[in-house]
Amino acid sequence: MTTEHAASPPCPHAPGPDDREWGLAVSTAEETASLAARVGAVSDAGDVIALWGDLGAGKTTFCRALVHDRAGDGEEVPSPTFTLVQIYEPPESAPVWHFDLYRLNGPEDIWELGFDDALEDAVSLIEWPERLGRQLPLRRLDVELCFAPDLGPTARRLRLIGRGPDWARRVDRLETEHGAADGD
Ligand SMILES: Nc1ncnc2c1ncn2[C@@H]1O[C@H](COP(=O)(O)OP(=O)(O)OP(=O)(O)O)[C@@H](O)[C@H]1O
Ligand SMILES: [Mg+2]
Repeated sequence: MTTEHAASPPCPHAPGPDDREWGLAVSTAEETASLAARVGAVSDAGDVIALWGDLGAGKTTFCRALVHDRAGDGEEVPSPTFTLVQIYEPPESAPVWHFDLYRLNGPEDIWELGFDDALEDAVSLIEWPERLGRQLPLRRLDVELCFAPDLGPTARRLRLIGRGPDWARRVDRLETEHGAADGD
């Protein structure tokens, strides 16, 4: 467990005074997935979860595990690299919209994908949120993934930043529960 981070983290927005930040390190993709499932369990309609990190850092791995938690293990969860968005509609819970905005031409184009509907009643997972510029909602969960070769070949440093009171509270709870489960 560590709270250290790379010198220039990919999420450029420093946490505000009322935001809640939690940093942790994971050793494997499975650990990333298990954290994602816990985030999925506390997410709800109208939530925005932004995934920050370099190519191959594990953004899709995180999203896939979150979709599996909310929509069922049977869902195939391809990377929406070319479609830009993939929609999951579990019968008994909020839809999940999984965006990969790497190929978005400009921030305004997000509205053509139906982003207003997603903000209304879905959980929105957003890879490459930097493409949204000022269209990125302020109340959100930021999840930052950084390679951590000093900790191991499949290790990552993760940082969760809950922005706005709802997410700040939930990040607090996730950290507390994680500490209790780990005994640290
Ligand atoms: N600790 C880890 N967390 C997440 N993924 C890991 C980890 N260790 C190894 N991996 C592997 O790294 C790869 C991450 O690929 P993934 O598609 O999730 O990255 P990405 O950030 O979505 O990339 P892109 O920018 O291309 O969308 C997967 O093959 C995954 O199994
Ligand atoms: Mg991806």
